[in-house]
Order: sequence, then C-alpha cells, then structure tokens
Amino acid sequence: MRRKLVVGNWKMNGSIAINKALLEALIAGVRKLDNSDYVVCAPYPYLCQTQQLLQGTNIAWGAQNLCSTDNGALTGAVAPHMLVDYGCRYVIIGHSERRALFHETDDTAAARFLAAQGAGITPIFCMGESAEERDSDWTEYIVGRQLDSLIRRFGPYVLNNAVLAYEPLWAVGSDQPATPEQAQEVHTFIRKRIARCDAEVAAHVRILYGGSVTAENAEGLFRMPDIDGGLIGRASLRAEDFIPICRAADATTVQGLEALIA
Ligand code: PGA
Repeated sequence: MRRKLVVGNWKMNGSIAINKALLEALIAGVRKLDNSDYVVCAPYPYLCQTQQLLQGTNIAWGAQNLCSTDNGALTGAVAPHMLVDYGCRYVIIGHSERRALFHETDDTAAARFLAAQGAGITPIFCMGESAEERDSDWTEYIVGRQLDSLIRRFGPYVLNNAVLAYEPLWAVGSDQPATPEQAQEVHTFIRKRIARCDAEVAAHVRILYGGSVTAENAEGLFRMPDIDGGLIGRASLRAEDFIPICRAADATTVQGLEALIA
C-alpha cells in the first residue's frame, strides 16, 4: 500500500512575510492528517526559514533543483550538501520549466538525480510530454525516454529512493488538467515499464501527477489506482487551496487501505 504524497512546488514565489503566513496556516491545517505525506519545495533563499518553521511538524521540505557536483567554481549553483545543511529531504529534478527555460537535458537531469541520492535527498523526477507530442501520439515515447534516462543508466533499483512525477506540459501552469483517466493511463504505462525491469520496485514507487491540480479536482485524480499524490504549483501558494488537496490525499489513502482490507 503506497501512502499518498502531496508536494508543493512554490517555484519563484514568496517572501519572508508571505511564507510565514502560508507555512503557519499549513502547519495548522495538515497537523491531524496522519495518513499521507506532505512536502513544500521552497526557493533556495527561504530554505532556512522553511526549516525553522517546519521542523517538528508533519510537513517535510525540499528544494526545486540542485547542482550535480559538490563545491567548486560554479557561480550561482547550489551543491547537494548545502541542501542537506538546511534539512531538505526532497528535491525536484528535471521539471519541465527547467528543461525548457534552463536547457536541462535527460543527461543533466540524470546526473542531478544521482547527486541528490548520493547526498541522501529523495529526488522527485519529472517527466511529461508537450501538447504537440500528445497530439502526435508520442506520449509514451517521450515519457518512456525520460524514464529510461534513469533506468538504463542506473538500473531500476535507483527508484527505490525516488519519487516520479508525471507532469504533462500542456497541463502545467494552464487551466487544463489531465483527466483522471488520461493521467491514470500514463501512470500505468510508467509502472508497467518499470515492472519489466523489476516488479517489486514498480509496485512501491510513488508516481505523482502534476499540472493544474486544484482543491476541486484532486480527489478524483488521487482515487485512481496508480496516482499516488500530486506535485502542486499554483495551488500550493494558498493555504485554502493546498490544505484541501492534502485532505484529499489523506482521505484517498484511507479509502485505498479500506479497499485492501475488504
Ligand atoms: P501547476 O504547476 O499546479 O501550477 O499547474 C505544477 C508544477 O509545475 O509542478
């Protein structure tokens, strides 16, 4: 039984005052939700603040990227051990915005993935196709290639300490979420492809859906058997949106458990 996981990706948003209000509201709103896991990925300058406010709560925190090497003449880069210093347990790797706007590739994403794991940080590895690729029926080819960029290099067992996120580009930052059925179809594809290498790894790895998840559509998505939670952008910036998504995760984990027992 996989526990649901909800990850807030703040992207380049926030300020000390805004974060304080948001985090305090989240701490209070999520405190009693014991059945799922919750994470906030803050911009680098706010990791210290995030750590101070979230330590001792049931919300973990992480970063939105890292550099694949440790120390050196790399202006503007942040090494994995620096994230460890601020208690980060997660880091987002290969987000479509990083791939598109900062020219990250399958190769550099794979290197970052491994660097995160090497530092004991769980990578949240993003995959997804563009609208044109979907229209051309290339979804499985693109997502398969992105997944293989890890499995072919490192073997399936690296996924034991990782989270996957299916984020179709056409759904990210739009108001056009994938339907639960569309997302489930790709999640099944991902899980089956991993299962070809190792069934146990495939059964345990958490695969999040991301792209225009809201308080309204979260429960429908999370009820799908292969959707293990969400990677949430805009709706993670407002407690009144994010808390109901966490509640939906908690409720669907419980429903899954009950179905298993029945
Ligand atoms: P969104 O972003 O929820 O605003 O669509 C999701 C993401 O980019 O992780």
